[in-house]
Amino acid sequence: MTTMQAHTKYSKGYYLPPEIDLSWAKKEFPDHAPTWCSVDLRDGNQALVIPMSLDEKIEFYKTLVKIGFKEIEVGFPAASETEYAFLRRLIENDLIPDDVTVQVLTQAREHIIKKTFEALKGAKNAIVHVYNSTSVAQREQVFKMSKDEIKQIAVDGAKLLLDLTREAGANYRFEYSPESFTGTEPEYALEVCNAVLDVWQPTLSENRKAIINIPVTVEMSMPHIYAMQVAYINSHLKYRDKVVLSLHPHNDRGCGVADSEMGLLAGADRIEGTLFGNGERTGNVDIVTIAMNMFALGVDPGLDFTNMPELVEIYERVTRMRVHDRQPYAGNLVFTAFSGSHQDAIAKGMHWKDEKNPDKWSVPYLPIDPKDVGREYDSDVIRINSQSGKGGVGFIMEQRYGINMPKKMREDFGYRVKSVSDRKHKELMPDEIYQIFHDEYINVENPYKLIDFLLKKQPDGTRAGSVDLEIEGKHQTFEARGNGRLDAISNALQENLGIKYRDLTYSEHALEIGQSSKALAYISITGHGGKVYWGAGMDTDIITASILALVSAINRMKAGS
Ligand code: KIV
Ligand code: ZN
Repeated sequence: MTTMQAHTKYSKGYYLPPEIDLSWAKKEFPDHAPTWCSVDLRDGNQALVIPMSLDEKIEFYKTLVKIGFKEIEVGFPAASETEYAFLRRLIENDLIPDDVTVQVLTQAREHIIKKTFEALKGAKNAIVHVYNSTSVAQREQVFKMSKDEIKQIAVDGAKLLLDLTREAGANYRFEYSPESFTGTEPEYALEVCNAVLDVWQPTLSENRKAIINIPVTVEMSMPHIYAMQVAYINSHLKYRDKVVLSLHPHNDRGCGVADSEMGLLAGADRIEGTLFGNGERTGNVDIVTIAMNMFALGVDPGLDFTNMPELVEIYERVTRMRVHDRQPYAGNLVFTAFSGSHQDAIAKGMHWKDEKNPDKWSVPYLPIDPKDVGREYDSDVIRINSQSGKGGVGFIMEQRYGINMPKKMREDFGYRVKSVSDRKHKELMPDEIYQIFHDEYINVENPYKLIDFLLKKQPDGTRAGSVDLEIEGKHQTFEARGNGRLDAISNALQENLGIKYRDLTYSEHALEIGQSSKALAYISITGHGGKVYWGAGMDTDIITASILALVSAINRMKAGS
């Protein structure tokens, strides 16, 4: 079989619901956050090459609490000693805040449920999450059981949860998942969920509501199909107002976020997922992305991602996974523009924002303000390589160093930076860019070095005096006369150095350097053949800065730069 024909061995493995409801598709986005449940410590952990140690789990758990998760699946205590010990540590060391509910997973099997309840002893708030597989493939191939037999497993598990909770005098909440839902006929999954609910008889009080969790155990369809399935379950579930409808998408087709978002539109109330999408195979859905997508639409997600770099650091350390550079909202490069046109638009958008102070964010190419997730404009947003241009380097020079050079000079400087990056074949850091600027334009002293100047105002308002230069090690003094100081020195240099230029432009601004303030002056002159040469002068005295800028421009003209 060639690869061209291999697809013929596949066909759709999902089932459409008997009723198709697409009304959810008319909604634009959820206008409030769902209940979030982190399954990092269970589904995420079970997918790691090296599962987290107990201490790592504790650190991750504390981080989840800090972010604002109120429901956290802490493990499958009957499945491993570490998971059991971890839950005991949380309970015995009083690490579960009153407003946080820990969730534990168990298969719908008697001895596993019993061990789970043992692990839970002393927990104030807990959700016991019981599941069994309902898909056609699992019924036929794994369990070799009829639909009724599979439903009975769920019902028996549900009964045991109820009995053991009563026996323990506890106040646990219950969750049921028809595992492998995406390969199950929706009407059969509904039948099983309703049978479980009949056992639990949920009530309206918040802590007696049941949770029905509809997992995308393996993602098998496009997201709108899943949303149709969710819409069907949503409108046919018994005790609907006493049930929290939860989603648990995995990401096999890369649509976990879309499944969640469309599922929320279709009526779900709760999402189970992980940070950065860790989890079995291609992962559980990434809660960071769903939450930040809401945030970017102006909806409060109820989770705090204001220090994303710290979160990434903790996550990478304890899971030994990597957050991809392109991971939405969290990746190293997701706010970065290297390309000249993007940088230019961002720099202009930032200026527009500073000038107009609008109440909504709309900077081009930046879906959110990077500062909202703890990122910096100058180091994260604009980074310079050989594809960058004047907008980007100008932005860095202004944001980081307070250097606001004239527009035309930015162009000149942009080309220089680009060619250095091209030659070195590497990204240039802000301090390297500053160094290029400094070496190239500021107080250039070769071959002419300004030593001093003295100019007095004449009765007719002109200036006259002298300018001292060092030229190839020799001190020389020239007479100077002109309409102003700069003009007088410009005349003296043109007359005595045998150089000619025209169209001198001048601008300047103050520059704060630490506690002190300096003046930075920019001059351009147009030489033979219309070529423009830029120079900059930096000094505590503004007049000296302007003369230094002129001498720099002349030196650069002399060098043909
Ligand atoms: O992906 C899944 O179906 C699960 C269940 C146990 C909810 O993790
Ligand atoms: Zn899962």
